[in-house]
Amino acid sequence: MRIKELLNQRFSAAMQAAGIPSECSPTLALSGKPQFGDYQANGAMGAAKRMQTNPRELAQKILDNLDLDGIAAKLEIAGPGFINIHLSSEFLASSLSDKITNTAANQQTVVVDYSSPNLAKEMHVGHLRTTIIGDTLARVLEYQGHKVVRQNHMGDWGTQFGMLIAELEEHLGEGEQAELALNDLEVFYQQSKKHFDADTEFADRARAYVVKLQSGDQHCRDLWQKFITVSVAHSLEIYHQLNVGLREQHVKAESSYNDDLENVVNDLVTQGLAVESDGAKVVFLDELADKNGDPSPMIVQKSGGGFLYATSDLAALRHRVNNLHADRILYFIDARQSLHMKQVFATGRKANFVPPSVSLEHHPFGTMMGPDGRPFKTRTGGTVKLADFLVEAVERAERLVREKNTELDDSEIKVVARKIGIGAIKYADLSITRTNDYIFNWDAMMSFEGNTAPYLQYAYTRIRSIFRKANIDPDTFSTAVEITQVQEKTLAFKLLQFEEVIDQIAADCYPHTLCAYLYELASVYMSFYEHCPVLKDDVPAKTQQSRLQLCALTAATLAQGLDLLGIEVMEKM
Ligand code: ARG
Repeated sequence: MRIKELLNQRFSAAMQAAGIPSECSPTLALSGKPQFGDYQANGAMGAAKRMQTNPRELAQKILDNLDLDGIAAKLEIAGPGFINIHLSSEFLASSLSDKITNTAANQQTVVVDYSSPNLAKEMHVGHLRTTIIGDTLARVLEYQGHKVVRQNHMGDWGTQFGMLIAELEEHLGEGEQAELALNDLEVFYQQSKKHFDADTEFADRARAYVVKLQSGDQHCRDLWQKFITVSVAHSLEIYHQLNVGLREQHVKAESSYNDDLENVVNDLVTQGLAVESDGAKVVFLDELADKNGDPSPMIVQKSGGGFLYATSDLAALRHRVNNLHADRILYFIDARQSLHMKQVFATGRKANFVPPSVSLEHHPFGTMMGPDGRPFKTRTGGTVKLADFLVEAVERAERLVREKNTELDDSEIKVVARKIGIGAIKYADLSITRTNDYIFNWDAMMSFEGNTAPYLQYAYTRIRSIFRKANIDPDTFSTAVEITQVQEKTLAFKLLQFEEVIDQIAADCYPHTLCAYLYELASVYMSFYEHCPVLKDDVPAKTQQSRLQLCALTAATLAQGLDLLGIEVMEKM
């Protein structure tokens, strides 16, 4: 059991015994400072207010009924009625050998919608955040035993595809192979756009192809499929490089909902939710009215009959509820799509596509900025291809590793450079509060000091090297921990908080809390290592074993935490 949960139970029982109404909670929190203990229970104040009594006296009553024998070493009342809990070293030591379960009590089916790039162009740095934040949450929820269904809602169905397949048709007509023509999707897109703007005959054909494609014309469908195959393969390659768990089977692109779009609109019209407006079908949402009181419009069908982004999102909602049986649906999409998501959610609820028991959550995020404080661009102002960006990260990491290390051979350096380069990018992003913008900085993220991936990866390798030196396998090492030094206690307590941190991330979807935790863990470990010698000759055997156990647990926790962030570790760097 989590320590916090255990304390919660004991405090609730004590509060009940003290005659406090059961709605009052113990409100347990980690203490900010060591002098206030390890946890604080702040519930006496709220309860006293409610019962109109003196909070310090009530806190004392709670203490009189509280049974924390074998758990707390000291309990004290502070200030207006805080209860400070100092956990006992023996309790912490013995808790370390209990396997704390990582499975959540309430197992759910969770749909995670992330990455979801538009296939008309190559993935660019703007796709990084959704891809890695979403992947972290998928990993965290899976770790907790939930059934996670990854959904890559790729954009493969917009008007641009008419232009792209018309262009492809011409290339193929000249005898070119599709793979070759689409070798650089960015260039291909620019080419067809130029063509479209300059040549009205081509533009007319492109427009006609959109309609033909969407109504199932075989020729257009074949051309489109060629394009999509190349574009999807490109994204899958990026996921592979990024160590992100999205595979072909997670692709559920917009086009897959095509046959259901008319039903969605008909349903909305029958229910009186969608109405005609200038020939289009529109849902007007009063609950999202602007400051003038005008309802927020969401178009679900254009006057020409075409369907929109919102229509496929509504179809996707239904699919996720009815076929995937989601209890919770998470969307990792840029904050700029917040209104769109609100409209889709509100309409999905009103139309009963989604029962109240299913949780719909848009988890937005800010923008990655260049050094000039504006969205990250190339020197000439173009979008940065994600593929190029990842290559640069690995190259930079390789230079760094070569500067620092001569112990690794060439092929080892390649592997380590990839883990460091990709890890650095991911960590720099994940360690920032999701909803904030952040300024991208190669040097800071690649630094071996501070709150970075290389720092944590390095901390891990250092611990592993202790075991190599001692000729012990840390993965099977298991012995009782004995706590005598304050640094040992601090480290033990930190290690025991891991699952609580994961619980929190599973609930609020803010991965930076895990980064902050891992960074603190590494720092607490460093101070432990400075004060508590492990392999020195004069360390008694029993103490040495206990300290080795703390080292092994720290390494395992670092590796587990980084793995949940999709960051790999290595034995040496
Ligand atoms: N393809 C969209 C874009 O690039 C993101 C899709 C996100 N997911 C969704 N269900 N709307 O902006």
